[in-house]
Amino acid sequence: MGPSGLPLDLWLRVERTLGYLFNEAVYERANTAMSLGTHGALRRVVLGLVYGRVLDVGCGDGVYLTQLASRTEEVVCLDPLPARNHSALPNFHRVVAVAEYMPFRDKSFDFATAMFSFRDFMDKALGLFNMRRVSKRGVVILDLFSTSPYLRPAVTFYFGYIAPAMGFVASGGRRGRWELILPTLLLMPRADFFKRIGGVIIARRGLGLVSIVYLPVN
Ligand SMILES: C[S@@+](CC[C@H](N)C(=O)[O-])C[C@H]1O[C@@H](n2cnc3c(N)ncnc32)[C@H](O)[C@@H]1O
Repeated sequence: MGPSGLPLDLWLRVERTLGYLFNEAVYERANTAMSLGTHGALRRVVLGLVYGRVLDVGCGDGVYLTQLASRTEEVVCLDPLPARNHSALPNFHRVVAVAEYMPFRDKSFDFATAMFSFRDFMDKALGLFNMRRVSKRGVVILDLFSTSPYLRPAVTFYFGYIAPAMGFVASGGRRGRWELILPTLLLMPRADFFKRIGGVIIARRGLGLVSIVYLPVN
């Protein structure tokens, strides 16, 4: 997989920034602008795939959590940040923890999902190991992935300059540190990597830059 996660200093900066964006309630607005509206549709694909008991790893203050809880038996949202937005549904629970150290027994859930959070793990191998360990059926990852080397200059330009400018405007001028997306993206494997470990690519946009990967658990 290559480099397995964010170095501690980068992880701390990313978490501080995300906490700020959640508190200011501008994270989703900025994301919609930077992803040109595609992230919501891709999240809906993930919501349509899972059922039963679902662990959503790196849920943040996910706007989709009530929808996820309303269509499944139970949702546990795991995140190091104690975000403000919670679903009021009785089958929704929030656990403050990290993917690398999950306080759950083996096969406690039907599915484990990670939407735009796998990229931020401190240790992707350990986080993925735990997501598989606690799932009976499979793991679904929706995220930005590394692209072919030919596309890298365009991707670097977009996430280095265009996306931060769009995030700044969409958030009403908040200092969101959107330039931190780029170093997290540069540490990602390509979506195709997951095929080598038994995964299937369910959706692919922007020549694989944004993909949904499904890893069945045997
Ligand atoms: C970009 S946000 C995505 C939030 C939400 N899933 C969504 O789609 O809007 C990434 C989330 O991953 C969380 N995160 C970062 N490192 C993590 C880790 N090691 N384990 C679990 N979650 C982590 C962050 O706190 C943040 O809430």
